[in-house]
Amino acid sequence: MGNILITGASGNIGLEVIKFLSNPGTTHQIIAGVRNTERAKSELSTYSHLGFVHFDFENPDTFDAILQGIDRIFLMRPPHISDIGKYFMPLISALKKQNVRQIVFLSVQGAEKSMIIPHNQIERLIKQTRIDYIFLRPSYFMQNLTTTLRSDIQINREIILPAGKAKFNWIDIENIGEVAAILLQRFNEHKNRAFEITAWKTKTLKK
Ligand SMILES: NC(=O)c1ccc[n+]([C@@H]2O[C@H](COP(=O)([O-])OP(=O)(O)OC[C@H]3O[C@@H](n4cnc5c(N)ncnc54)[C@H](OP(=O)(O)O)[C@@H]3O)[C@@H](O)[C@H]2O)c1
Repeated sequence: MGNILITGASGNIGLEVIKFLSNPGTTHQIIAGVRNTERAKSELSTYSHLGFVHFDFENPDTFDAILQGIDRIFLMRPPHISDIGKYFMPLISALKKQNVRQIVFLSVQGAEKSMIIPHNQIERLIKQTRIDYIFLRPSYFMQNLTTTLRSDIQINREIILPAGKAKFNWIDIENIGEVAAILLQRFNEHKNRAFEITAWKTKTLKK
């Protein structure tokens, strides 16, 4: 039982996490953290027990008030936010100050291998605060084929990615949402680990 704040609640993964957490028997209070609460209330009206709070990563002055009473957070990084020091450092500090004890962070496959990508920086920040965490490191979203990559496919009939010789595969966002929901609900069984999730298998990595 507890209050779970979902950031990026109107995005690909946030919506899926809410869907999987919103089963009739849940004892958790799920709160959608969104920039536009009116729009979210309308779009998520099927989830009758969902709470809403105005949450903006770019407004650190509001973090303390929003995080009061939150036990657990599903944390994601909006794609346009790359200045981790400016936006995530105050947020992670506020999580610590407001006693939010559990973080499930949506990272990315391979985050541990690159010190410069934002997800790596956020993972290190979380570890430094010593708040219990679970890092979810999914591979490439299958839905990119119909969103960000769509025009490349339709117009150029090719997909170009900065992947070098790396091998990677696709995963459905629904699968990521389901795994995230399970980890949020059974946090203590899996805490302080990273999970690489792909369409092939979910691999638990060492602490
Ligand atoms: N695409 C991939 O293949 C892939 C693979 C692995 C990991 N990832 C990681 O997944 C993350 C993206 O997740 P996603 O696809 O679920 O997101 P998304 O669909 O791009 O949605 C972004 C979400 O962030 C919210 N947002 C944007 N700016 C905000 C702000 N200033 N304050 C509060 N909320 C804000 C948006 O809310 P509004 O409705 O208010 O705009 C929206 O809910 C990124 O960190 C990405 O690197 C992506």
